Amino acid sequence: MSTSLLEELKLDIWNPALTAAAQAAATDALEAGRILYLPRLEFALLPHEQRFLSAEWSDGQTKNINLRGGERKLRGARGGADDLALMQAMMERFSSQCATLIGALLPRYVPHLTLASTSFRPCEVAGRKSSYRKDDARLHTDAFPSNPTGGARVLRVFANINPQGKPRAWRVGEPFADMAARFLPRARRAWPGEARLLRALRVTKRSRSAYDHLMLQLHDRVKADAGYQRQAPQERIDFPVGSTWIVFSDQVLHAAMSGQFVMEETLMLAVSGMRAPETSPLRVLERMTGQRLA
Ligand code: SIN
Ligand code: FE
Repeated sequence: MSTSLLEELKLDIWNPALTAAAQAAATDALEAGRILYLPRLEFALLPHEQRFLSAEWSDGQTKNINLRGGERKLRGARGGADDLALMQAMMERFSSQCATLIGALLPRYVPHLTLASTSFRPCEVAGRKSSYRKDDARLHTDAFPSNPTGGARVLRVFANINPQGKPRAWRVGEPFADMAARFLPRARRAWPGEARLLRALRVTKRSRSAYDHLMLQLHDRVKADAGYQRQAPQERIDFPVGSTWIVFSDQVLHAAMSGQFVMEETLMLAVSGMRAPETSPLRVLERMTGQRLA
């Protein structure tokens, strides 16, 4: 693959020794909205984990099998207790390898990161039916209805573990600021008291900031615009089996078109931990609106 959207790193271990210059270059590429692409970094399953490569482990209710927050309770899976404990151990191993990798590659982030969730995605992405808001085959930037970030960045690590050689096929869109310039004028403003009401009704786990409100508006309006989905600048990227990639998914427009079996780790990064905080969606939207948003 040769696309400027990718910053390719030829690492093949999760704990590489990198120079400060290489770490800074990786950080800058990520903050500029590029995807760190590690084609040779494989998340290897143990022999007894190969059997988890089946959609049968999904409970059919949610898209993914998840471990969330500090609680780390396995959700979205069905199976016997012993099997599910082994599946959870596989996910925890991925999570700890991601932490090791970030410590080696993006060390300045480490004191500013919190672990949000780990997921195993055993279902085929192509042809999945859902409402347009939940349809991740439409270009979007990530924003969470019930989990406001208050401006913090969404940093995600993916690894394709498909056993049949099937790539994870994404579309990746235009820079965040270009999308925001197009869609911000169409964003609905929050009505007075909306954040307080959503919190009181437990729709949100914390109060939804003006930033989170706008990010959700952008997420929904971009997904709803069929013309934009077809015509907006975009590239298809196939992430092959055995590859790992890292992306700020709140910044990079992405859509998952096909593929089955990926691991995914979500970390939240405080804007103050960035090398170039002005590139964050929070600061971009604050410049565009002329308002403090979080
Ligand atoms: C998404 O974050 O929208 C889906 C990415 C994927 O599962 O490949
Ligand atoms: Fe997404």
